[in-house]
Amino acid sequence: MGKLSVKYLGLDLRSPIIVSSSRLTSSLGHLKEAEENGAGAVVLKSLFEEQIDHYIHTIPETTGYPEADDYIANYMRSNTVDEYLRLIRNAKENLSIPVIPSINCYTSGGWTSFAKNIAAAGADAIEINVFFLPVDRKKSAAESEKIYLDLIEKLKKTIKIPIAVKIGFRFSNILNIIDQFYVRGIEGVVMFNRFYEPDIDLDSIDIIPAPIFSAENEMRYVLRWIGMASAQDIKIDISASTGVHSGGDAIKYLLAGASSVQVCSVLYNKGISFLKTINARIEDWMDAKGFRSVSDFRGKLNYRNYTKPVIYERTQFMKYFATED
Ligand SMILES: Cc1cc2nc3c(=O)[nH]c(=O)nc-3n(C[C@H](O)[C@H](O)[C@H](O)COP(=O)(O)O)c2cc1C
Repeated sequence: MGKLSVKYLGLDLRSPIIVSSSRLTSSLGHLKEAEENGAGAVVLKSLFEEQIDHYIHTIPETTGYPEADDYIANYMRSNTVDEYLRLIRNAKENLSIPVIPSINCYTSGGWTSFAKNIAAAGADAIEINVFFLPVDRKKSAAESEKIYLDLIEKLKKTIKIPIAVKIGFRFSNILNIIDQFYVRGIEGVVMFNRFYEPDIDLDSIDIIPAPIFSAENEMRYVLRWIGMASAQDIKIDISASTGVHSGGDAIKYLLAGASSVQVCSVLYNKGISFLKTINARIEDWMDAKGFRSVSDFRGKLNYRNYTKPVIYERTQFMKYFATED
């Protein structure tokens, strides 16, 4: 067991640093590069619910003529889905680190049975990238959240491999929804996804996409919730995602209680080989502080372990205007 090794979703990772789902994890070449440069695991680019639905519904009824069946099936089958399953199998054959496919979904629909194919292709675990944009003002928060819970229940009944749910941070009560995942048997939660957001261009007076890559200061939206969620008395692993641009950022998430830390934007900006720099920084810091394993310091500063947990509850800037601190 190396110094950086951790457990995540019951899997042994040689480093807590995971390459998160994006185009960087959509080809075997990139996946191998991630492994060579020290990734603890890889989360494959998400397969979309629409693609799976299309796939399921285009598999034709049998004609009774095997040749015709073959022809129609081959002709109509969505290549993308087959390619995805092939990528999982290739990754499993060629890598020794865990391979975690991802499905992007927004309903609790019939696609869940497809997860069996993913498990059968050899996936070590599955990440569910689920986001339901609440655009219907008549729907309550509880009704919206039920979509997540229904989906998880169906999925849990279908597959045996560990499941991590990747969520956004816009929940009325994040800690409660994580509890709800836990009681339904979910092994991990990825906090948080970072979504496509609209921006406005003042010259063209038009809607444009906001920057797709994160900035370092975006960790601030996440750190509090990792610190609080990891302190709950439930056994659900937390994988931190958003705003990790250095080894130091990863250490902060680990100190707050994350079991693993996912990186994406920084690898787009600095190349996949930057994984080495991140791992080296964590090791150097551990040496300097006298920590021999990640478990020696993981969660040291979470809501339960920190001496002044109230700091996690502070939301207003009042102290900056008061005379005492
Ligand atoms: C170009 C790009 C593509 C992405 N595609 C996916 C995806 O398919 N599925 C997913 O769950 N997250 C996807 N993400 C989100 C990342 O996995 C990650 O959660 C997010 O970028 C925040 O991490 P970061 O600050 O390290 O970039 C994508 C991000 C980028 C920039």
